[in-house]
Amino acid sequence: MADSRIPGFYNMPLSGRIGRLAQAADLPQEVLAPYASGGGLSPEAADHMIENVVGTHALPVGIGLNFRINEKDVLVPMVIEEPSVVAGASFMAKLARAGGGFRASSTAPEMIGQMQVLDLRDIQSACASLLEHKTELLSEADSIDPVLKKAGGGARDLEVRVIQDSPIGAFLVLHLIYDVRDAMGANAVNTACERLAPRVEALTGGRVHLRILSNLADRRLTRTRCRIPATELAFDRFTGEAVRDGIVEAWAFALADPYRAATHNKGIMNGVDAVVIATGNDWRAIEAGAHAYAARSGKYTSLSTWEVDAQGNLVGTLEMPMAVGIVGGATKVHPSAQAALRLMGVKTASELAEVIVSVGLAQNLAALRALATEGIQRGHMSLHARQVAIAAGATGELIEVVATQMVADGVVRIDRAEEILKGRRKSSKPS
Ligand code: MEV
Repeated sequence: MADSRIPGFYNMPLSGRIGRLAQAADLPQEVLAPYASGGGLSPEAADHMIENVVGTHALPVGIGLNFRINEKDVLVPMVIEEPSVVAGASFMAKLARAGGGFRASSTAPEMIGQMQVLDLRDIQSACASLLEHKTELLSEADSIDPVLKKAGGGARDLEVRVIQDSPIGAFLVLHLIYDVRDAMGANAVNTACERLAPRVEALTGGRVHLRILSNLADRRLTRTRCRIPATELAFDRFTGEAVRDGIVEAWAFALADPYRAATHNKGIMNGVDAVVIATGNDWRAIEAGAHAYAARSGKYTSLSTWEVDAQGNLVGTLEMPMAVGIVGGATKVHPSAQAALRLMGVKTASELAEVIVSVGLAQNLAALRALATEGIQRGHMSLHARQVAIAAGATGELIEVVATQMVADGVVRIDRAEEILKGRRKSSKPS
């Protein structure tokens, strides 16, 4: 059984962290070995993944601590270049833990494949014909992927839609609903749409133009919820109630205003994408689905909600499409993506989705708590200052020295870092 609380992890030397993590995750250390070697993806393996490969590109992996999701502790690998995200998520997971952790659930993993049917003389009779032959079309689609079928997936439904207002006139869109189980599903759905197209043309007398998955995966939703006792939110000069109410006020801004909602949702995606990337999943698909879902009412708005319950607790929820897989693609061939799945102990794509969305909610809370109180810059600055110190040429212990000095001065800039470094070098020269 994993224990996601590792006190002092932040202050441990880098060389000791993997061993401590393996111990907390109750895993042999070898499972996490790819993390110690730049992700473990060899240029040769990369050469089989995409075209014109010249090498690989590394990013930091940090561990989201303190997460408790559906009564289970989870250690969460997060791949991200931005400071404060891992620390913020871990801290908020600790506060959520005090209220019982995250409660998450998912719908069936159903993806939507779209077929655009053009050149129809009578759209209504084409719709009727497709619906009359629904059983036949579904059974044809169902037979296309025997592996998915065996795992309990397959074609579930057909829906017809008519697009009236378009520069090319009215046309028909056929949706194939496909349960993809533990796959992301793009390959299975695209194959099914391409295979069904000739039969759809025969039944409608039209021409099937596009045959492709929709990234607005609004039938494959994951929802998570956390409850934070107000007392847990108090810090410095801020009372728990003031922080709680400030968070609700900040959320109301995102609910009402698309300019704020875009930034609010970006904060959610800081957490979401970090885990999506760590597991080798397609973060562009997740981003596209998230923002389209945020605009589903016709107005772009917040993906999360924050309210106060009858006991005065802060309650947050986040619901969004989550088309991630744990079989196939990079999730299977990338060594650190495999390590990530083992570390989290997720056995299904839905379990992975539930971890990802919970990290997104924690990250949203971290941003709102900072914004509603001391502002975002203070927390950001100490880690940002380290990056600036490194960029200015600081190494080893000097990184911390230069960063601390810049934060104390309230000036975190490369020219200031260079100045401090110069001063240190001068004073350490033998006279
Ligand atoms: C920065 O990466 C994310 C935030 O802007 C999110 C937010 O404003 O809610 C801090």
